Amino acid sequence: EKGGYKHYMAKEIAQQPTVVGEVLEAYVSGDQITMDMGGINFADVDRLSIVACGTAYYAGLVAKYWFEHYARLPVDIDVASEFRYREAPFAPKTIGLFVSQSGETADTLAALRYSAGKVDKIVALINVPESSIARESDVAVEIHAGVEVSVASTKAFTCQLTSFAVMALKAGHDRGHLDDAGLAKHLSELRQLPGLMSHALTIDAATKAIASKLAEARDVLFLGRGQMFPLALEGALKLKEISYIHAEGYASGELKHGPIALVDKVTPTVVMAPHDGLFDKTVSNMQEVMARGGRVVLVSDARAAEEAGDGVWQTLAMPEAPELIQPILYAIPAQLLAYHTAIAKGTDVDQPRNLAKSVTVE
Ligand code: M6R
Repeated sequence: EKGGYKHYMAKEIAQQPTVVGEVLEAYVSGDQITMDMGGINFADVDRLSIVACGTAYYAGLVAKYWFEHYARLPVDIDVASEFRYREAPFAPKTIGLFVSQSGETADTLAALRYSAGKVDKIVALINVPESSIARESDVAVEIHAGVEVSVASTKAFTCQLTSFAVMALKAGHDRGHLDDAGLAKHLSELRQLPGLMSHALTIDAATKAIASKLAEARDVLFLGRGQMFPLALEGALKLKEISYIHAEGYASGELKHGPIALVDKVTPTVVMAPHDGLFDKTVSNMQEVMARGGRVVLVSDARAAEEAGDGVWQTLAMPEAPELIQPILYAIPAQLLAYHTAIAKGTDVDQPRNLAKSVTVE
């Protein structure tokens, strides 16, 4: 039931501090990781091959940044519908990792079956333990999001990300790139998530005001850099899925290679940019948009907003957060912007046209 919320999507967005806390409870105890991966030691793994669709694919894309950064483990990532047919050669010591909330997505299941016998182990990151993808994997890791009803995935995404963060830290530790102290530090950062997510949910009213303006746009651009690039993709997907506004997510640095041609006085550009090591570069990308009369919606923390200077059209102020957890936290403004824009447009939020919760045909 909707429990007092107008839509399942609103309820599921609001549940995130709780369910993410449950993921951490399941997989972290004090300074130790307790995630059971069927005895996998990442020191014996040379490559990860992540396969998924839609939002689950974007969770995998963030995970690629984490596994490579925290564990120096190379990651290939594909959308499931492409993976099967491109006949990629498998390197030895590869783990196939399939991500699916429903566990029934036809393309992801077919990609899993294609990989069986060609990779060392099939790992699935799933929300439904009795699903086909869970049953056909060697190791099924649950994301503990609880039932997700809304077609637009929200809490499953943040629970996928939180589970992936733990897994990437385990990989870093197994492979000797993170010592005990480094691991403990990052685990304590993860523990800040439920509190910071609750804080981030308080931007609801500010988001509503911006969404009433986004609702008038025909196109919206989303930009992000590094581990925030997949959040730009997710923000754009969420917006088109439920508000039917055309949106594109780009890596900030790609702006000049094409999408900047879309920038005009009526096209908003949402910049997902917490204060991080790449912030200066993001500011210069924003200035390029503003110099062409473009309207920038900056989603960032107070420190970054100050450094960004004048000329920003709208700012959404997020709490400051350690770098590791920023992509998880910034899922909230991406979701709220889409949600309130859809409400302003009067679309069917939980059951958008032409979409199904679980895509069981290829
Ligand atoms: O159940 P799955 O995680 O395999 O579903 C994958 C996609 O169909 C799904 O994430 C879809 O993109 C969502 N509607 C996005 O909000």
